[in-house]
Amino acid sequence: MNDLTPYGPWAVIAGGSEGVGAEFARELAGAGINLVLVARKPGPLEETAATVRALGVEVRTVAADLTDPAAIASITTATADVEVGLLVYNAGANSYGRRFTDGELPGFQSVIDLNITAMLGLTHHYAGPMKARGRGGILLVGSLAGYVGTSTEGIYGGVKAFGRIFAEGLWAELREYDVHVLELVLGVTRTPAMERAGLNFDVPGMHVSEPADVAREGLAALPDGPVHVISGNERLIEMRCSTDRARLVAGTEKVMRALVPHA
Ligand SMILES: NC(=O)c1ccc[n+]([C@@H]2O[C@H](COP(=O)([O-])OP(=O)(O)OC[C@H]3O[C@@H](n4cnc5c(N)ncnc54)[C@H](OP(=O)(O)O)[C@@H]3O)[C@@H](O)[C@H]2O)c1
Repeated sequence: MNDLTPYGPWAVIAGGSEGVGAEFARELAGAGINLVLVARKPGPLEETAATVRALGVEVRTVAADLTDPAAIASITTATADVEVGLLVYNAGANSYGRRFTDGELPGFQSVIDLNITAMLGLTHHYAGPMKARGRGGILLVGSLAGYVGTSTEGIYGGVKAFGRIFAEGLWAELREYDVHVLELVLGVTRTPAMERAGLNFDVPGMHVSEPADVAREGLAALPDGPVHVISGNERLIEMRCSTDRARLVAGTEKVMRALVPHA
């Protein structure tokens, strides 16, 4: 593992209560970095906070919905008296996976609010001081969905593509200030959210990552942005960069039907 000390003394993990977010918390606490964990459900949030506090670091929690504009002020208020050297923006699964003509605009808007608006709000707040200090990290969690559109992931895939391009731009902007920016691209990962959504992890030939491995690999890749695809997904990423988009989209639709119930 790389030295995580330059990303301290405090890190904010938006979506830090479960799955990959909780594993980021464990890794960072193990390296002595104090944490501010954000999530909606107070139960898992406090449980994870207690687990990582036991590793000897200070932990603050903010129970807030990132789609609520007031969440940004709650988080920045909670960090007003500390130096944040790392922002991990992990929250952002497809919370509204409807076909576009079957869904309601406010539902699609909430996917945009979570993955774009709140992500930009927190990144803007923390990246400026990191640039002034000449150190820090911004790790945005992305998805293979950001490389192809499908009927139930047109908005989700779009916001994840936005995150990747934004990360590339911010990386180009901040690299000369030693602020590391990384879009960490995940494939299918066995998180509690996906288990609750009933994802079929047994599709033949599909690679499934474990949250602890993803968090470890992501933090190791942080100094080498702007984009890192979690290992095991190399073949898929190559396919999704194909120029025959009709063939790719039609094939991905079939995979989505096997993967997600009612897709
Ligand atoms: N799991 C996969 O197969 C997979 C594949 C590709 C990419 N990804 C990406 O990996 C990241 C993590 O995904 P995940 O599967 O763990 O699901 P997730 O629903 O994004 O949950 C991750 C964390 O975010 C919190 N969270 C979710 N929505 C929130 C909101 N509106 N406000 C505040 N906190 C919120 C969750 O706690 P609460 O529910 O209590 O709020 C949890 O701590 C996402 O960015 C996702 O796009 C995941």
